[in-house]
Amino acid sequence: MSKVFVNIGLSLDGYMAPEGMTMEYWDRPEYKDWGAKWGALMSWILKQQYLRELLKFGPGGETGPVNDMVRYTMERTGANIMGKRMFEQGEVAWPEEAPFHTPVYVLTHEKREPWARPGGTTFYFVNDGPESALEQAKESAGGRDIRISGGADVIQQYLNLGVIDELEIALAPVVFGGGDAFSRTYASRCSGFELTRCMKVRLLHTCAMCVSKGGQHVSQHGPATAEGGFAARVAVRLPPTLGVMSAIERSARLREKEASWQR
Ligand SMILES: NC(=O)c1ccc[n+]([C@@H]2O[C@H](COP(=O)([O-])OP(=O)(O)OC[C@H]3O[C@@H](n4cnc5c(N)ncnc54)[C@H](OP(=O)(O)O)[C@@H]3O)[C@@H](O)[C@H]2O)c1
Repeated sequence: MSKVFVNIGLSLDGYMAPEGMTMEYWDRPEYKDWGAKWGALMSWILKQQYLRELLKFGPGGETGPVNDMVRYTMERTGANIMGKRMFEQGEVAWPEEAPFHTPVYVLTHEKREPWARPGGTTFYFVNDGPESALEQAKESAGGRDIRISGGADVIQQYLNLGVIDELEIALAPVVFGGGDAFSRTYASRCSGFELTRCMKVRLLHTCAMCVSKGGQHVSQHGPATAEGGFAARVAVRLPPTLGVMSAIERSARLREKEASWQR
């Protein structure tokens, strides 16, 4: 059965995009230094061969486990869902062959006809809410997974609906101090997540980070050398069975864990 997943880059202080990164200042990346900050958040992925190819950046790029992971994320995805803000930026920044190669459902109040791009990406503009977009995405995904691509506004809506099976977070060792916060209106349904995977990604930054989610806690520290920092990609997912009974069992387990931390 297809899963619904999120896959994002996040700053250490929980921002998905730096302050100033809006269409108004799109041509002024020096505004509040948003261009450099975005680069610091995403440079690791933009260096991967697979993504370079997808974005038409030209030949070259890193190969290896991180590149394989990026490829896997794209190949598992049968449909994408995104918000209008993310789409607006992509509309001007993505190459003509948009880097999805699937149907993309854009949540918006704007009424607009579907927009087909070469290479198999068609953007559909959905005006009747996140549940409808998810239903359409599932119908068109051919059994593959559904990616909630962003931004934070849209991800929050799906977290609040309790339909996200997996969160993949690439935590970068940068602090923005403001911007688009991943967590705006956290819902209690997020509490069932468990940490399942963690992978290091080489970055040109020093880092010290700490990830805590659903009763799990991971702490790692990177050396202060130009090549030595790392970010972790942390995947958490909900147990396959959801419902009142499993929710109660889960919260009982979490309470036990919380009690053991306090001892
Ligand atoms: N770090 C990462 O991995 C990552 C990933 C993706 C995006 N981003 C960044 O995130 C930023 C955008 O995020 P965001 O949270 O500001 O915006 P967003 O989620 O991309 O879009 C929000 C907009 O979508 C429309 N919308 C959302 N839900 C709707 C609904 N239920 N019904 C109708 N319309 C709806 C509304 O626009 P209208 O009312 O105008 O239609 C709303 O203002 C960008 O800077 C992008 O680069 C970062």
